[in-house]
Amino acid sequence: MEQRSQEAPRPVEVTIRRFELSDVDSMTDWASDLLDKPREPSFIRDFVFRHPWFRAICLAGVDRHVGSVSVTPTGDPRRAELGYVLARAHWGKGVATAAVKRTVATVFDEMEGLERLEALVDVANTASQHVLEKAGFRREAVLPKYRVIKGAVKDIVMFSFLITDPLVDCTSASTRQSSSKKPERQKSLTMEQRNRETPRAVEVTLRPFEISDVDAMMVWASDPQVAAVCRWDVYESTEHVLAFIRDVMLPHPWSRAICLAGEDWPVGAVSVTPTGDPCRAELGYVLARAHWGKGVATAAVKRTVATVFDEMEGLERVEAVVDVANPASQRVLEKAGFTKEAVLRKYGAIKGVVKDMVMFSFINTDPFVE
Ligand SMILES: CC(C)(COP(=O)(O)OP(=O)(O)OC[C@H]1O[C@@H](n2cnc3c(N)ncnc32)[C@H](O)[C@@H]1OP(=O)(O)O)[C@@H](O)C(=O)NCCC(=O)NCCS
Repeated sequence: MEQRSQEAPRPVEVTIRRFELSDVDSMTDWASDLLDKPREPSFIRDFVFRHPWFRAICLAGVDRHVGSVSVTPTGDPRRAELGYVLARAHWGKGVATAAVKRTVATVFDEMEGLERLEALVDVANTASQHVLEKAGFRREAVLPKYRVIKGAVKDIVMFSFLITDPLVDCTSASTRQSSSKKPERQKSLTMEQRNRETPRAVEVTLRPFEISDVDAMMVWASDPQVAAVCRWDVYESTEHVLAFIRDVMLPHPWSRAICLAGEDWPVGAVSVTPTGDPCRAELGYVLARAHWGKGVATAAVKRTVATVFDEMEGLERVEAVVDVANPASQRVLEKAGFTKEAVLRKYGAIKGVVKDMVMFSFINTDPFVE
């Protein structure tokens, strides 16, 4: 017996099942840190039942649940976020790891279109990071100042598990067959992108858009070569661009026209769009093709980070998520002082094609590049 107890612990067995209203009685075991009124049946009725994938974790053979695991869709149907919580009495026994393994073994079949499950963990939460590593997740990056948790801005570790990743000792089928899409590979240079000129410090100004900018914007919005690397489709008519300026650009919290110094005609656009976390916003930019390769985008991005932290309350991190196959855009960010943090696998889709994306960030304490 003595010898037996020193052997490696047997893997814990768990089951994952849907919640029932009667589960409210055992919710205080794990949910009291998270919820004001965990014993309210309304939490199960109004939140859990309406959630697309929220499950109870039970120890095998026991119906009383000991925690929960959830997979919450993001704005992109290919991507969802994993969350889990366990009653403290069950910590340190492999229960969460078993529940996460079971989740990845089933959720890709249950959520249509899902290709990437990601988990965002506070850097200080080593136990949770360990769970993900044991369950076969890939640690992709540490993202500084990425999320606000209980009022505090936190550095976050990004983990992912792809539909094509091997399952860790869960079923005999260790690798999924259902998807074998390969990430896009780096494309070769276009002539315009190669069109480098002697680097001279370009000066640009940034100003809010006006309805009268429609003709200037039509220049890049109607250009198929510009649209090819962007999420949007080519704009066919001035009316569509006009509607875009009126309905998206004017009400946008931080969107600016890029003008060459001394001119009022926009040659491009730059925007900083808030995310669900007030500390974090996403940078985007586009430039009319005639002005590529002259340092204009770099100058606009430098000017953006030099002002936007003062102009958007609570902002501490500006991030840019760039297609791995868009080296010009990555170069812009590097020149403007951004840090390349990670390649996030299957993170975004451009024109329906799932892409690996490079995550860049500039945080409010980073030095500005002259
Ligand atoms: C990306 C874009 C904004 C760049 O604008 P730009 O004004 O040409 O950028 P800059 O001149 O400031 O810098 C471009 C850099 O990329 C380099 N570059 C261009 N094509 C490249 C390629 N294929 N491979 C490697 N580097 C490349 C340039 O040489 C330059 O670097 P350098 O100064 O060290 O020589 C512009 O091409 C564009 O509007 N593209 C379409 C929209 C887009 O991609 N937006 C970003 C989405 S994340």
